[in-house]
Amino acid sequence: MTPGFAAFLYLVSGVLFILALRGLSHPTTSRQGNIYGMVGMGLAIVTTLTLTSAGWGGFLLIIVGIALGGGVGAYVARKIAMTAMPQLVAAFHSLVGLAAVMVAAAAIYAPSSFGIGAVGEIHAQALIEMSIGVAIGAITFTGSIIAFLKLDGRMSGKPIMLPMRHALNAGLGIAIVVLVAVLVATESHGVFWLIVILSLALGVLIIIPIGGADMPVVVSMLNSYSGWAAAGIGFTLGNLALIITGALVGSSGAILSYIMCKGMNRSFISVILGGFGGETAAAADDDIDRSVKLGSAEDAAFLMSNASKVIIVPGYGMAVAQAQHALRELADLLKEKDVEVKYAIHPVAGRMPGHMNVLLAEANVPYDEVFELEDINSEFAQADVAYVIGANDVTNPAARDDPSSPIYGMPILDVDKAKTCLFVKRSLGSGYAGIDNTLFYKDGTMMLLGDAKKMTEDIVKSID
Ligand code: TAP
Repeated sequence: MTPGFAAFLYLVSGVLFILALRGLSHPTTSRQGNIYGMVGMGLAIVTTLTLTSAGWGGFLLIIVGIALGGGVGAYVARKIAMTAMPQLVAAFHSLVGLAAVMVAAAAIYAPSSFGIGAVGEIHAQALIEMSIGVAIGAITFTGSIIAFLKLDGRMSGKPIMLPMRHALNAGLGIAIVVLVAVLVATESHGVFWLIVILSLALGVLIIIPIGGADMPVVVSMLNSYSGWAAAGIGFTLGNLALIITGALVGSSGAILSYIMCKGMNRSFISVILGGFGGETAAAADDDIDRSVKLGSAEDAAFLMSNASKVIIVPGYGMAVAQAQHALRELADLLKEKDVEVKYAIHPVAGRMPGHMNVLLAEANVPYDEVFELEDINSEFAQADVAYVIGANDVTNPAARDDPSSPIYGMPILDVDKAKTCLFVKRSLGSGYAGIDNTLFYKDGTMMLLGDAKKMTEDIVKSID
């Protein structure tokens, strides 16, 4: 295959990746988007294989590698629970970072195989690209491992605040930049590995002060880093597909991080500087009357079947309980009774962007009943019932009314404006941000304590 034709095929796969991203932005087009992505990746792999000059032995190694990696990936993707998706993504990002380090190491030890000069005479430009790729790759590797450990509960989600951490991180960052300059001047393998070691340490230090609540933003940020690392290595290898894909991943990850920060009213800088989200439920040291009105499935069934409008607000607890199918059944029953049913989705409900949309789509909830926060918030005032199922932080009025709250300023779903707010959760405990929710104690709120799926099924039985 001529290099010109290969470049053309890489361009086609780049376009397919862009179409994939576009498709993934809405549940109705997401399957199509996935197909574009798969075809694009298949094309990029086949094109790369036809360009390889590794001989049969090398070719076989590549095929075995693809089969092994693909097999493990397919197995994990089939087994993984929807709720464990963020940590899986973090674990996968660590591999992208590690791959960037490995490729750079291969390039510095065998530069002629990569067409970037001979040992001791690597072009300066290639050395710069390689060292940037390796530094970002190593930071992504350890940073993603820490994010995985925190999200998977294998490490406390509490921020770990080292003294002088900003100075330490800045010092390491400057040292890495100086070492990159030394590497370009000397091509020393020792300096190369020193860059790797300092970057690995920086990855750990950047992520440990970040608390649980900000972790999904960090995963998206690491996603962005892994894209830039891949793009950097793409320049070293002269591989157009890697440059295009890396740039797409890098920029889409950065945009996603920005959107998530906006949804949580956090500035990107304050997320990076860390320290939020490790706290436990706020102590009851104010003058709020903390008595709650408890209700049963029968009470909820009565209220909902006599309502004319019910707005359902799903959250992380619905995902944990896998209550989406029971919820759909409940909505169908209510619609049969001429009750208007809508779903309200907060941009950061659950643990990853689009989490609730995916689950509702899985239960075949019609898309035209599902609304984003800005499109439905004004309707709570006309609703008879807001059915809050496993959501917590995204309904907390402190975000709207209490300037001292850590989540103050985050847009919330105004469920307290509905005539009655039915709140399904297992306890009066806090949500992801670790903050008490004063909504539990309001007059219009009825707490339905129990597992989201069981409670919804019981309500369905009571309506029948
Ligand atoms: P949360 O505030 O985390 O609350 C979920 C609630 O579900 C918990 O309070 C829990 O209470 C309840 N729950 C857990 N298992 C349950 C079960 N089996 N049955 C019934 N209830 C159950 O969830 P949310 O309102 O969806 O808010 C999301 C949070 O994650 C926000 O703080 C957001 O900032 C953060 N976050 C999300 C994202 C994205 S992109 N989605 C990104 C970054 C941060 P009990 O233990 O009492 O049952």
